[in-house]
Amino acid sequence: MKSTVVACSNLALIKYWGNRDDTLNIPINDSISVSLEDLQTTTTVEFGPKHADSLVLNGDPAKGEAKQRFEQFISHFRKLTGFRKPVRVESVNNFPTAAGIASSSSGFGALSHALYDAAGFEYQIPEISKLARLGSGSAARSPIAGYAHWYAGKDHETSFATQLALADDMRILVVLTDQSEKFISSIDAMQLSKRSSPFFTQRGVQSNKNISQLKQAIEDHDFSLLGKISQQEANNLHAVINTTGLGLYYWNPTSLAIMKYVNVIREEYEIPCYYTIDAGPQIKILMKSDQANAVQELVEDKFSMVEIISTSIGFGSKLSDLHLF
Ligand code: PMV
Repeated sequence: MKSTVVACSNLALIKYWGNRDDTLNIPINDSISVSLEDLQTTTTVEFGPKHADSLVLNGDPAKGEAKQRFEQFISHFRKLTGFRKPVRVESVNNFPTAAGIASSSSGFGALSHALYDAAGFEYQIPEISKLARLGSGSAARSPIAGYAHWYAGKDHETSFATQLALADDMRILVVLTDQSEKFISSIDAMQLSKRSSPFFTQRGVQSNKNISQLKQAIEDHDFSLLGKISQQEANNLHAVINTTGLGLYYWNPTSLAIMKYVNVIREEYEIPCYYTIDAGPQIKILMKSDQANAVQELVEDKFSMVEIISTSIGFGSKLSDLHLF
């Protein structure tokens, strides 16, 4: 009745931004991501009559929005499975939580996998993916190693992720420009975008068009096409975010300076690298493994205040014997 799972955060190359159905997180477009090996969440789940439902996150009892999302998620799990025993959960991230490096993707991914396992169910990746999606859309992609394709689908049964390809020799630098918690959650921001950005619908249409091109780039190991599509996708996402309400602006002046510098490194230093950015101020830079040190040195020389996590492509969520309690 006790299970522990380790899941990697994932980085969207084709972005998820907005739902057709907000209760089930059925998205308006397909998305594609890579798993990030060095950004991990470990979660232990135990069912039993001696517990009351509880979540401890990075050593502290969950409060406020995190607690509410957890309770909502557990009630989704109970409705789906009919399994109603009280549950104790502890979870730790080895990276900053909720600052735009998708802690919700690894968090709900690890939790979903551990819940199915601790409850003693037979399960496969699609079940984990569908359950994880109910916690946070991007978590639908976290059971998958390497590259994941989340099919938007039409309903709960058809909206889940599958593997596109295993890791190749890409490396990702996660450049942390500000580690405070974000001011608005992605789910709230995307709902606002849907209501107010004139570019919301067009972005989703464009992302769906980009899917087949990116799949081809992954299959052909065509890094420059992969990088180009990913960078354009990030720009399209932020065109929507920046026209949400009177402008949401997840990036800060350092994020913007780094994005521009990535273009300089690619065009003037002639090192193929591309940026992407999500709902937070951190910049993720994509490059081939053998260029990672050169790019990291250039960025560190110019931006001494940032911290960089360098990661390769990671694994899918997996069971572990190292329980947290
Ligand atoms: O899963 P959420 O609700 O945290 O939304 C993730 C949104 C982006 O990270 C910006 C894009 C994506 O596809 O991961």
